[in-house]
Amino acid sequence: MAVPPEIIERIRKLRDEINYHNYRYYVLDSPVISDEEYDALMQELKELEEKYPETVTPDSPTERVGAPPSKKFRTVSHEVPMLSLDDAFSPEEIREFDERVKKLLGTDKEIEYTLEPKMDGLAVELVYERGLFMLGSTRGDGYNGEDVTNNLRTIPSIPLRLLSMHQPVPELLEARGEVYMEKNAFHRLNQERKKQGLPAFANPRNAAAGSLRQLDPKVTASRPLNIFCYGIGRVKGHNFKSQWDILHTLKKWGLRVNPLIKKVRGIEKAIKYHERLADIRPRLDYEIDGMVIKVNDIEFQERLGTKARSPRWAIAYKFEAAQSITRIVNIILSVGRTGAVTPVAIMEPVRVGGVTIRRATLHNEDEIRKKDIRIGDWVIVRRAGDVIPEVVRPLKERRTGREKPFVMPRYCPVCGSPLVKKQGEAIYRCPNPDCFPRLAKKIAHFVSKPAMDIEGLGPKVVEQLITAGIIREVPDLYNIRKDDLLSLEGFAEKSAQNLIDAIERSKRTTLPRFLFALGIRHVGEVTAQVIAKHFRSLDKLMNASVAELEAIPGIGPEVAASIHEWFGDKKNIRLIQRLFEAGITIEPMESEKALPLEGKSFVFTGGLKGMKRSDAKRIVMSLGGEVQSTVGRNTDFVVVGENPGSKLRKARELGIRIIGEKEFMEMAKEGH
Ligand code: IVH
Repeated sequence: MAVPPEIIERIRKLRDEINYHNYRYYVLDSPVISDEEYDALMQELKELEEKYPETVTPDSPTERVGAPPSKKFRTVSHEVPMLSLDDAFSPEEIREFDERVKKLLGTDKEIEYTLEPKMDGLAVELVYERGLFMLGSTRGDGYNGEDVTNNLRTIPSIPLRLLSMHQPVPELLEARGEVYMEKNAFHRLNQERKKQGLPAFANPRNAAAGSLRQLDPKVTASRPLNIFCYGIGRVKGHNFKSQWDILHTLKKWGLRVNPLIKKVRGIEKAIKYHERLADIRPRLDYEIDGMVIKVNDIEFQERLGTKARSPRWAIAYKFEAAQSITRIVNIILSVGRTGAVTPVAIMEPVRVGGVTIRRATLHNEDEIRKKDIRIGDWVIVRRAGDVIPEVVRPLKERRTGREKPFVMPRYCPVCGSPLVKKQGEAIYRCPNPDCFPRLAKKIAHFVSKPAMDIEGLGPKVVEQLITAGIIREVPDLYNIRKDDLLSLEGFAEKSAQNLIDAIERSKRTTLPRFLFALGIRHVGEVTAQVIAKHFRSLDKLMNASVAELEAIPGIGPEVAASIHEWFGDKKNIRLIQRLFEAGITIEPMESEKALPLEGKSFVFTGGLKGMKRSDAKRIVMSLGGEVQSTVGRNTDFVVVGENPGSKLRKARELGIRIIGEKEFMEMAKEGH
């Protein structure tokens, strides 16, 4: 029996109306009929289709659910790869992006950008042929995804047929967008699952991904999914001028586009809008993790082109996460100034709250046991109070069985003393009173002004660094990163950068400084100067015999033995190697003639007004002179300050030239 033409016409009319109301509801967010009226239209359509099954077409609004479960998803290749985006976190990085864009385009005019919330869901591609939804797939690896057409069909906001009332539909449209689950729907779903004894989803993103990859479309249909479209793949039969044009045209065709999109000229306006999005983010009913900035003009986009995995014309300006996931690669011990030995998690670097985190204190053995943290675990980390990194909990579901429980060592990692633990206390301590202070002193000496001269790294900071487990040996100094410092109290962006720069600068040093820094017993500033001048190279000094050392004027048997012994210890040789590996270079000794105070010896007595005694000594040495502690016949100058001591009398007795501070400064200046 043929279907009466008026029925065919009515069915067509009903479908058009329902599609239009879907568009009003999902895309424009301004329905013009009540839910009851809408349901009545659907009901009428369903009844007619039941009566005349031959009228049912795949794009009918009644046909969202109904496909049988599949065994496996077919692979779909993306003709135009679905690229990812480079990340940026700071206005500086965004300005750099803008600079790159301008440079590549050869312009200094302000660029027009589209700004879009970066949805935190999963990317899909919807293929429409002559307006009909034919194929839908996940992003997969960007080149090949999975055919999830039947699942996507169940998402009410995805049109099964494009709307043609504002704009003719193209022959082919590959629309791209992000499928997501609203926060409320996510919480409701999780509550439901808990009641049913099912595991909860960790976040809306996982819930959306899990729902879309269901083999049975009925399950997907029961999950409250939604979509925002933001781009295109292949298109035939339509030309777009700009990203803004794409977004608006997709919307006219009935595809859902985020209402918070914006078009601006100039990067500063983009940075402002990012702040605004960050502000309203908590009030949105879906998750966004940043803002995507895209060069608006398609011709510009084409000229900029793409890199291997991401376009040069777009960037994701991410929000800082307060909490992230990473893996614990090791648990080491740090020794604090009270001798407390604390386990510290060493993690794969991860960004949390604006800095990259690599380590976090685990407090003590009991805490590790309580949280059941193992080496190799994936963990959630956060910055407590926005400063101190903290391991919240391990993700036990990600365990492979290769994770290793942490065992508290019985000996101090610095001095090797057996550790002790008081009853009722959770903390192990190193009982050796020399342990921490010795290490702290050794490192503080190494970085001090007459040694490696790392500005801004005083004894207090050294202690902080040791306590935080950032340094445990001298060479660790050269692995300090800015983010390590930012996790310490008292450091801000600028001070952290200054210290990093100072550490970097200190890598170029001189032989006397380096020798003094090593902290060899009996080798003070003056002795370091003397032996450096004598050997002129570290290699020669390292190979010197005791006899050779003793033969140097001013070096006695005790000093010679100490130096020889120090360089005879493999541990020390390894230390030197590591320092060189870290990038330390020793400037060649300057030629003798170049130094104005060469061969002149000085003795200081009394207090200087304009500088510290130690600075004055350094000036003499840096100009090739020698500083003596006692006045002898070979002393050339005695520099006299306030309240001079017996040295002045001795100098007079021996007829040695006596100069004041002012005169000394003149000599120093001439030297410079
Ligand atoms: S554009 C070539 N726009 O972010 C441009 N992506 O890291 C590629 N995403 O896989 C994507 N919101 O899942 C674009 N407004 C938006 C987006 C967006 C979310 C996701 C998408 C993509 C990933 C790129």
